[in-house]
Amino acid sequence: MGKDALTRLKNFRFFSAMVLFTLVWLTVRFPFQFSAAVGDVLGTENRLDPATLHLRGEFVESNLGPALESDGSFTVRMIAQQYVFVPQCVVIPAGVPVRFRITSADAAHELTVSGTDYKIKVVPGVASEARFEFERTGEYPMPCHEFCGPGHYAMRAALVVVPQDQFRALSPDERMTCESR
Ligand code: CUA
Repeated sequence: MGKDALTRLKNFRFFSAMVLFTLVWLTVRFPFQFSAAVGDVLGTENRLDPATLHLRGEFVESNLGPALESDGSFTVRMIAQQYVFVPQCVVIPAGVPVRFRITSADAAHELTVSGTDYKIKVVPGVASEARFEFERTGEYPMPCHEFCGPGHYAMRAALVVVPQDQFRALSPDERMTCESR
């Protein structure tokens, strides 16, 4: 083999390796980066499937309602669906910020808290989040404020705010029961 032929062979190998590398990168890496980029733009990285909310993920039934997180904060998780909020009633402690996380199983809804400016727009596919804090104990109706169909005007939940020590003494079931208060 002459020196020219050897150089050409080396160049060819180098060229082939570059092509192969590029092809592998495009096949393996690009779809990843592409979907991540699209997810960034659309904000769909953590999309929730409205059809399987009750089966897996954050909004399974056992996870709904008020919960005390490991860091001592409070979170209320709810699902909005034509024409109810689940759970229908939530009890929260007064005087501390409470994080509400809500998603929709169908149409767009809006949870509002009567007598306050608090509201959360709720749409299928994402978890909407807001922090509410109530100084005064009492009961607040939470009607839906987005026209979501013929049952819209009857769509409402109830919020009961109780003193913190009273809240801590309640069982998980009692935190979703409004009749006794
Ligand atoms: Cu839900 Cu209006």
